[in-house]
Amino acid sequence: MPEIQIPAELLPIDGRFGCGPSRLREAQITAFAAEGARLMGTSHRQAPVKNLVKRVQEGLIELFHNPEGYEIVLGNGGSTAFWDLATHSLAEGKSQALVHGEFGSKFASALKAPWLSAPTVINGTPGSRLELVAEAGVSSYAYPQNETSTGVVTPVKRVVGADSGALMFTDATSAAGGIDFDPLETDVYYFAPQKNFASDGGLWFSLMSPAATERAERIAASDRYIPEFLSLKLAIDNSRLNQTLNTPAVATLFLLAEQVDWINTNGGLSWAHSRTLAASNHLYSWAEASEFATPFVAESSHRSQVVVTIDFDEKVDAAAVAKVLRANGVVDVEPYRKLGRNQLRVATFTATDLSEVQQLTAAIDFVVGELS
Ligand SMILES: Cc1ncc(COP(=O)(O)O)c(C=O)c1O
Repeated sequence: MPEIQIPAELLPIDGRFGCGPSRLREAQITAFAAEGARLMGTSHRQAPVKNLVKRVQEGLIELFHNPEGYEIVLGNGGSTAFWDLATHSLAEGKSQALVHGEFGSKFASALKAPWLSAPTVINGTPGSRLELVAEAGVSSYAYPQNETSTGVVTPVKRVVGADSGALMFTDATSAAGGIDFDPLETDVYYFAPQKNFASDGGLWFSLMSPAATERAERIAASDRYIPEFLSLKLAIDNSRLNQTLNTPAVATLFLLAEQVDWINTNGGLSWAHSRTLAASNHLYSWAEASEFATPFVAESSHRSQVVVTIDFDEKVDAAAVAKVLRANGVVDVEPYRKLGRNQLRVATFTATDLSEVQQLTAAIDFVVGELS
């Protein structure tokens, strides 16, 4: 029995509020038991699993508003692998990267590869951000749509005045499926399925424009050395056959397919967008009205609707609050480990109902009352 017991009526039904892996819906698990489990232990080169991949690809294209000529490419290794893949297979010459936290910074580091020119890195303070700017000679612009370490959002927009042929690389890992966007404003919209898509880690997906595919094919035909695993051309060729270069996690694909279909059936990305907006608005309003909490992201237009970071004043120890919540089954609201703030971080991904977040803030208020 935990030292401080949160009354049952204040607890969310599902205690998972982490930023990935994140909460799954019960219906996904039920569907997996009924149908998905039959695919387990069968070949990814045969029709049943290839049809599952096709279902995911078609569902994602529909979700992303069916942009003409764009395609869904996938492979193994999660978004981290995609950074290296993009560096080997897509970037050329000079890139520009927007950085204001851990994930933006990791891609910027990958872009420092010896066969590329040193990237321009636009470094903003965590908890806010700067903007990408048109720069002559830059052929790729990279930014995180949602910086998961801090809860800062960046609109999906092309850089006005960029060189013709410059490509936009959007790290949508924690935004895809939870924030609506115009796909024509980007060329490479990549993500992993363990966040708004309520699946598991280990795969990457990328919505790619015809210009991005063309560049990947041109670079693959050049004399640049590209390891097979980091070849976007091989990933594209395999994806067109509804398969991956090497063996994928079939359960991850199934759970993802269920989530994509669920969102599409309920009204698509604008519906998902309104859910995450409602849940995050509740948290920001609660923090603004609270005596001990404030939104970490001061500029409201920078505040993410899928990852909410809340600072606590010095009278309340956020780590102690998170510990009590955890002991009561409410987990993963600790802040990003390297940020080092007196803070809670809450994912408001598409699977999370507004009512669940309302329960969470009631539970936090109770715990803070008990601790003081
Ligand atoms: C914005 C962002 N980019 C990239 C990653 C890395 O994703 P993965 O763990 O699938 O490699 C994460 C993981 O949290 C993320 O939030």
